[in-house]
Amino acid sequence: MAKQIIKIDVKAVKADIVKLKADVVAVGVFSDVKKSAFINALDAKLDGAITRLKKIGDFKGAAGSSVFLYTHGKIAAERLLLIGLGEKQKATADTVRQAASKAAFETVNVKAKSLAVFLHNENVKIALEKLGQAIAEGIHFGGYRYDEFVTRQEDGRSNSLSALIVDDNQAIVRKLGNGIKVGQIIGRAQNFARTLGNRPANVLYPAQFAAEARKIAASVPRLACTILDEKKLAQKKMGGILSVGQGSVHKPRMIILKYSPRSSKGRPIALVGKAITFDSGGISLKPAQDMHEMKMDMTGGAAVLMTMEVIARLKLPIEVYGIICAAENRPDGASFLPGDIITTFSGKTVEVLNTDAEGRLVLCDGLQQAKLLKCKTVVDLATLTGACVVALGKHKAGLFSNDEKLAQRIKKAADQSGEPVWQLPYGPEYTEEIKGKIADLKNIGGKWGGACTGAAFLGEFTAGLIWAHLDIAPKMDASEPMKKYAESGSIGFGVRLLSDFLMNEVI
Ligand code: BES
Ligand code: ZN
Ligand code: ZN
Repeated sequence: MAKQIIKIDVKAVKADIVKLKADVVAVGVFSDVKKSAFINALDAKLDGAITRLKKIGDFKGAAGSSVFLYTHGKIAAERLLLIGLGEKQKATADTVRQAASKAAFETVNVKAKSLAVFLHNENVKIALEKLGQAIAEGIHFGGYRYDEFVTRQEDGRSNSLSALIVDDNQAIVRKLGNGIKVGQIIGRAQNFARTLGNRPANVLYPAQFAAEARKIAASVPRLACTILDEKKLAQKKMGGILSVGQGSVHKPRMIILKYSPRSSKGRPIALVGKAITFDSGGISLKPAQDMHEMKMDMTGGAAVLMTMEVIARLKLPIEVYGIICAAENRPDGASFLPGDIITTFSGKTVEVLNTDAEGRLVLCDGLQQAKLLKCKTVVDLATLTGACVVALGKHKAGLFSNDEKLAQRIKKAADQSGEPVWQLPYGPEYTEEIKGKIADLKNIGGKWGGACTGAAFLGEFTAGLIWAHLDIAPKMDASEPMKKYAESGSIGFGVRLLSDFLMNEVI
């Protein structure tokens, strides 16, 4: 049995920094705020330790920086962690989220198990609910570790992290508390998406993914889960997902989650996720270097699953389907081959010119399923192309849409959630490249603009839909500078973005 992942809990309380006992107390410091009554009082209590630190230049409050101070009994907590917030004018919810993440990351690094994050008056102008949400999300993000298969004991990390967000004003604490409840649900969900991403393909294969989905659906009211196994997929003629999965002993699954609120308006929204539990490339085999990372090629599906859990827990008044296309892409005697012509669920035929362009082949069946379920707005998430990583680096996910208003709604959620996206083109010149000669479509375009031709392929299955595609390959795992405040590996990208997107849809 794998070990339990660290349990994290966040609460808001009213307390005094001099008296509160915690393994670590963390305080954010702006680089350009000189006269903070709170910091000055704390500095005085510590006999000028903060002033001296600034003077010798070890800590100036730059964003991303932090330093531990040992308090020698001058305040109740042994360790004080100063976290740089950068310039006050530039601070956003994500500045605070990252700082909270850093606080939790460092706390777990020193094997401590309780953290108190102190707010003080000169905090940025962010609504208190949103602030509470962002800090709670950050604490979950930074406190997370992936070690469920590490059996050695010398690590000595705590099994839990108990965090407090502290202010000395009861009214503020109450408002923060409302946001913390939301942030806690999202943070936990995101961390489980990370665990799914980090689990190797011998543990998390399509049937296991389906089992996890079933468990989650059973744990929260109004979330139903239907699983199409290989026999059902064949009955329905879902030729895309079946072809990709046919070379593996681990057969594909389509997981259909439905969240039915007590009351809702309008047609349902669908989230469609690529969940290739391992992408070896198939017969068009990938190079060995870094191939193991392709266990995370199910990141889109994990984000969809965990967002469905979030909206059910938040009881959002909006009907949503989560459609997850899970398959394992492997070379084998039974694998699909370059040159094969397959008939997708929609009836459109595709000539497979590269078995490594498999994400679009599973997603086209998922998009067709969303249509049959009468969804109007559809957002898909997929680690679809290496070309998107080439285009954007590892800093932002690619956004494509056939509807400018939907693109704007997603960009707004990206800003709020700190899960950044950058819009890339969707249009007929790209679609032209994937038109087929001996079948309706080809599964790859020309040499250039692979992220755009990938999106164009999906676009062929979205007629009549308001649709956006997120190519999240750039955000499949942590890169710099994130590794300074969070565990490397999967980052559960998309859970915060989709949750904020859907929360915005109902206000
Ligand atoms: N899963 C990969 C894309 C990917 C690459 C995700 C790097 C994350 C990091 C996808 O299935 C793939 O292999 N795409 C091909 C498409 C090509 C054959 C048109 C690619 O990007 O090379
Ligand atoms: Zn591939
Ligand atoms: Zn893939």
